[in-house]
Amino acid sequence: MSPILEGSGLSMRYGDLQVLTGVDFTVGEGEAVGIVGPNGAGKTTLLNVLAGAVRPTAGTVRIAGRDVTRARPDQRCRLGVGRAFQVPRPFGGMTVLENVVVAASYGAGLRGPALSRQAADVLEECGLTELANRRAESLGLLHRKRLELARCLATGPRVVLLDEIGAGLTDAEAAELVSAVRQVRSGDIAIVWIEHIVHVLVQVVDRLVCMDTGRVIADGEPQAVLGDAVVIDAYLGKAAS
Ligand SMILES: Nc1ncnc2c1ncn2[C@@H]1O[C@H](COP(=O)(O)OP(=O)(O)OP(=O)(O)O)[C@@H](O)[C@H]1O
Ligand SMILES: [Mg+2]
Repeated sequence: MSPILEGSGLSMRYGDLQVLTGVDFTVGEGEAVGIVGPNGAGKTTLLNVLAGAVRPTAGTVRIAGRDVTRARPDQRCRLGVGRAFQVPRPFGGMTVLENVVVAASYGAGLRGPALSRQAADVLEECGLTELANRRAESLGLLHRKRLELARCLATGPRVVLLDEIGAGLTDAEAAELVSAVRQVRSGDIAIVWIEHIVHVLVQVVDRLVCMDTGRVIADGEPQAVLGDAVVIDAYLGKAAS
């Protein structure tokens, strides 16, 4: 079976700066993969390339075996790639429900009762049902993060790309977010999650990838990756000091 999302030989260069070098990255159906690595390692750039926000200077992106390297982000969204950003980007003038409805309508192409059902399900899944009629701009950080996840799920993804959605949360809030992401997993959606809060990440992922200076330096079972001398030297040693 083809992986749900696959990047092969991905390279990215901005002027003289080589940001990604020959990165191979795959996510299986329903698999949860974490990405860690020092600041500037190229993690967000990899997500941008996979989602179609930027075109790589070399390499190929496939969704379920189909070459989408030249496809726009909205086309990839329709093929099942959902994305949540570190800084939530809700439509501030709209309610929580309206935000999710827009995502389900444009991202998943739903209409009528199917659209209402999808929106209600996603709000429930993300613990936002009670806040459905609140204006998005009035939400606190945890709820804005939940809404970001809800908007992503409303597009009906087969894989979600999460970039530091735990950043800025307290330990208790991060634990709540983990339970929301776990719910996503139980729905058989694959996850790619970049997060510096490693102890939060390892509660959810099956596999951990560590990047440094635009390359994948480790890829495997989370505890094995965290114990890898190369990873400790490039990332964990710096994080601890
Ligand atoms: N649009 C751009 N133009 C020029 N350089 C860029 C651009 N986007 C990213 N970079 C550079 O590419 C490198 C990798 O950035 P990226 O944001 O992918 O790192 P990251 O691993 O996500 O880091 P962080 O953990 O801080 O979020 C950095 O040196 C960054 O300055
Ligand atoms: Mg980043």
